[in-house]
Amino acid sequence: MEVERTFVMVKPDGVQRGLIGEVVSRLERKGLKIVAMKMLRIPKEMAETHYAEHREKPFFNALVSYITSGPVVAMVVEGKSAISVVRNLVGKTNPVEAEPGTIRGDLAMDIGRNVVHASDSPESAKREISIFFSDDEIVDYAKVDEDWVY
Ligand code: PPS
Repeated sequence: MEVERTFVMVKPDGVQRGLIGEVVSRLERKGLKIVAMKMLRIPKEMAETHYAEHREKPFFNALVSYITSGPVVAMVVEGKSAISVVRNLVGKTNPVEAEPGTIRGDLAMDIGRNVVHASDSPESAKREISIFFSDDEIVDYAKVDEDWVY
């Protein structure tokens, strides 16, 4: 298992519903390491870049307008196989299909208000991290519990 970094974002609905701590807590309790974190309001152009692969989708404008509608919390999360581990914790995109026990399965009702975003591949993780963070905003550190997680 390779150590990976992935991009995770608490979306505007998650921030407004007071779920930042819940999301961060689930990531930490799993054994993942947060190596960067910030709150920001995403400019429209940045949102369009982040969601560029969905530009032709009918929901694209709604998606951009929602993600820019309020502050988000962006994170870089590290761990062995972190991309798959986080996607499993987050659950299926549509909360109607997301399993109980996952973030969306437990905390969301609507595909357009699904609390959290997580990268779906190594390529998207690299791309998304570079949209939100510069190299010097990502912190390399050892965590005291690492020997107990692995
Ligand atoms: S697709 O069509 O399979 O590529 O789309 P998917 O990967 O499932 O979803 C991509 C992101 O778009 C959001 N989404 C929507 N937003 C608003 N309305 C509708 N109908 C809708 N369908 C999908 C979805 O929440 C995904 O957001 P992220 O941030 O990538 O999880």
